[in-house]
Amino acid sequence: MPSRLASACSSGCSALRNVSRQAENRRVKGRRLHAVAAEAQTVSREEVLTSHPFNNVTEGIFAKIGANLHRRPDHPICIIKEAIYAFFDERQPGVFAKLEDLHPVVTAKANFDEVLVPADHVSRNPNDTYYIDTETVLRCHTSAHQAETLRKGERAFLVTGDVYRRDTIDQSHYPVFHQMEGVKVLDRSQYSDAAEGAKVAEQELKETLEALAAHLFGTGIECRWVDAYFPFTDPSFELEIFFNGEWLEVLGCGVMEQQILDVNGCEGEKAWAFGLGLERLAMVLFAIPDIRLFWTSDQRFTKQFKAGKLNAKFKPYSKYPPCFKDVSFWLPEAGFTENNLCEVVRGHAGDLVESVVLIDSFTHPKKQRTSHCYRVAYRSMDRSLTDEEINDIQENVRASLADQLKVELR
Ligand code: PHE
Repeated sequence: MPSRLASACSSGCSALRNVSRQAENRRVKGRRLHAVAAEAQTVSREEVLTSHPFNNVTEGIFAKIGANLHRRPDHPICIIKEAIYAFFDERQPGVFAKLEDLHPVVTAKANFDEVLVPADHVSRNPNDTYYIDTETVLRCHTSAHQAETLRKGERAFLVTGDVYRRDTIDQSHYPVFHQMEGVKVLDRSQYSDAAEGAKVAEQELKETLEALAAHLFGTGIECRWVDAYFPFTDPSFELEIFFNGEWLEVLGCGVMEQQILDVNGCEGEKAWAFGLGLERLAMVLFAIPDIRLFWTSDQRFTKQFKAGKLNAKFKPYSKYPPCFKDVSFWLPEAGFTENNLCEVVRGHAGDLVESVVLIDSFTHPKKQRTSHCYRVAYRSMDRSLTDEEINDIQENVRASLADQLKVELR
């Protein structure tokens, strides 16, 4: 998964005030609005696009909040969610609570601190996460709800929702996607001491997720376990699935860190947790080649999927030709990140951008300056683009790169 919570570096986030109260207000408000109109925008523009200097949420991202793809019955994201629900209901009837309308605006405390993300972890960097202000973010993973849900007394639960990450652009990365978090606290009768509990948790976790993969894809699916690092689990693993000639990471998981259990009402207990990417699973299951398709309202896409039908394979309709534009520039001394470049491109092109790839990089030996050349592929999912339209977008991209990112265009 993009910029997953797996490596360490970079800046922390400042002290938190009054956060639990704010979070509670937001949660209640979010829930009430969802109950009234599940498909309506659930936050106001002012709440998300604040003038706080730390705010890095874009109009495009704001427009996605409240879309609730995971709650539209005939949408592939919802179909896969229901299939996972069916798996858990069959395996352990009535055990897992299902939460799917928790608000995506959360405190940095819930998103990071409560799941033990270190102060210098890369995921806290505003280059990776959308901040509303220093204390409030668009959740970057459904793990943001682990602690609060344990505190509410749930001991086995599935939390599904939209998550937000600043990222690079290609066919399997999009700044909004959907995750399902699963947490299961073991029954005390399953183990006699902590060491045994951890072993049982790991075993049950792997068995459960392998069975889930077989339930979704059939027993022939090629899967592999990869050792991983997450701040909130130990040991940690990723499950990868072979798709379109490459290994695709579809979930992260592990034995929950004891501290999270201890301070949230489960002292001395043992648990496992996983977080899976619903788009990734749906791409594999339905052979959907581009992650942007989940957001299209083109009926040639939407009509292909029906609630409860897991065996549909996406039939590509005529693909419109891509249009490539290169942009070269000297990197600014103050620093440069590809995520910021991609954010600028998306800001002007929206879903018309298919990929942004670094095709050349060199450092001038005398000037000690580095130049990058990126190839931007523009392609619409549902219409052909005119040269004029693309030229306009590219001009705007170039202007913003110089203006906002302070690069020197070549
Ligand atoms: N939150 C992790 C991610 O988004 C996934 C995860 C969830 C890993 C729960 C372990 C346990 O990448």
